Amino acid sequence: MFQGTDVQAKREFQVGECRRPGPSTQAVHAGEPRQNPYGSVTTPIVQTSTYAFPNTDALESFMAERMFWDKPLHQEYGRYGNPTVRAAEEKLAALDEGNDAVLLSSGMAAVTLTLLILLRPGDHLVITADAYRRTRTFCNTFLKRWGVDVSVVPPGDYAAIEAAIGPTTRYIFSETPTNPFLYVLDLERLVDIARRHNVRTIIDSTFATPYNLKPLAYGVDLVIHSVTKYLAGHNDLLAGVVVGRGDLTVPLREAQAMFGAVVDPSAAYLILRGLKTLALRVERQNASALAIARFLEEHPKVRRVWYPGLSSHPHHDIARRYMRGFGGVVSFEIKGTDEETRRFVDALRIPRIAPSLGGVESLVEQPAIMSYYEMDPEDRLALGITDQLVRLSVGIEDTEDLIADLEQALERI
Ligand SMILES: Cc1ncc(COP(=O)(O)O)c(C=O)c1O
Repeated sequence: MFQGTDVQAKREFQVGECRRPGPSTQAVHAGEPRQNPYGSVTTPIVQTSTYAFPNTDALESFMAERMFWDKPLHQEYGRYGNPTVRAAEEKLAALDEGNDAVLLSSGMAAVTLTLLILLRPGDHLVITADAYRRTRTFCNTFLKRWGVDVSVVPPGDYAAIEAAIGPTTRYIFSETPTNPFLYVLDLERLVDIARRHNVRTIIDSTFATPYNLKPLAYGVDLVIHSVTKYLAGHNDLLAGVVVGRGDLTVPLREAQAMFGAVVDPSAAYLILRGLKTLALRVERQNASALAIARFLEEHPKVRRVWYPGLSSHPHHDIARRYMRGFGGVVSFEIKGTDEETRRFVDALRIPRIAPSLGGVESLVEQPAIMSYYEMDPEDRLALGITDQLVRLSVGIEDTEDLIADLEQALERI
């Protein structure tokens, strides 16, 4: 049966006689059944909303046997489980070295459902600033409305993080690297603080990817990714994932069955397909972004560059300790007016002006006119989001072409 081979294949792959597989081998093979129906090499798209039982006895024994949400492949109805979705979850769990993964309909579904399910009225949450704006808005509006107290602290200020923890604090939530300034957390230090206070940690590792960083290996309790970005990698779908141990993912899976934030089997197939090239894509994006950051740092029309691979970044040493590569996002400030910054962005021929990041196509945005547009300009400036700030998500185009494009656009200022 599909269900049995799925679990078995993953185990055999992980504990086989051969050496521990590298990130690319993992990305291609982990989580997927070795033997598929019809001998298909690729995991089939099981495009169904429901599952038929051969007779009433079979239905009854299925119902008697099922151990509800700690049995991830709940093959009874599409909202409760699907083999293609499950294969994508197994691969994502393997890449992040977790015991379990829950795939949801978007990164925000993953963030919001996790926090809603794990927190109760009266609980306190510590989050770091410089996070994806919708996540901060969710914490500061929805969670507060439901009686969850929230403290926002600067990333990298461990004294402030510890000082914010009180008797009702249950979780610390942070991104690493953060958006848009790419601050990197000292995860061992964060986990040490959290454990001393009996608090759990959740890391949104979207900007890092499991290729560059594995937060669970440092004792983090849950990892979240917007799969929309590097993991799916092709700017063609929305999804999110939560990876961790079973005790935290099982209640989430149960809630997902109620909230219905599931992924369509076709999208799950595209995720599996995208993940196979994760290591190749991220290696290229790491290398190109570093070359571009170095180029920009030397350019007279650029005031400042934020990239954790540069020694000028305040968290360069931490990034070197934790990350295999420094990711594909480079943020920089143009030395010029708002008008000149717009002219530079509009002159770019390869990157498209669009939100999002991590895909094969390079994307560019001015955060002040994109995610921070609705914010009061003074509040925006207080966060360091100037009109001259540009965020570039480096795709997999040739590095030399991207640099030449940036060079010609900078000449237009
Ligand atoms: C760090 C981070 N987390 C979560 C999200 C939300 O992901 P999605 O757009 O897949 O809902 C984003 C989106 O930009 C993000 O940048």
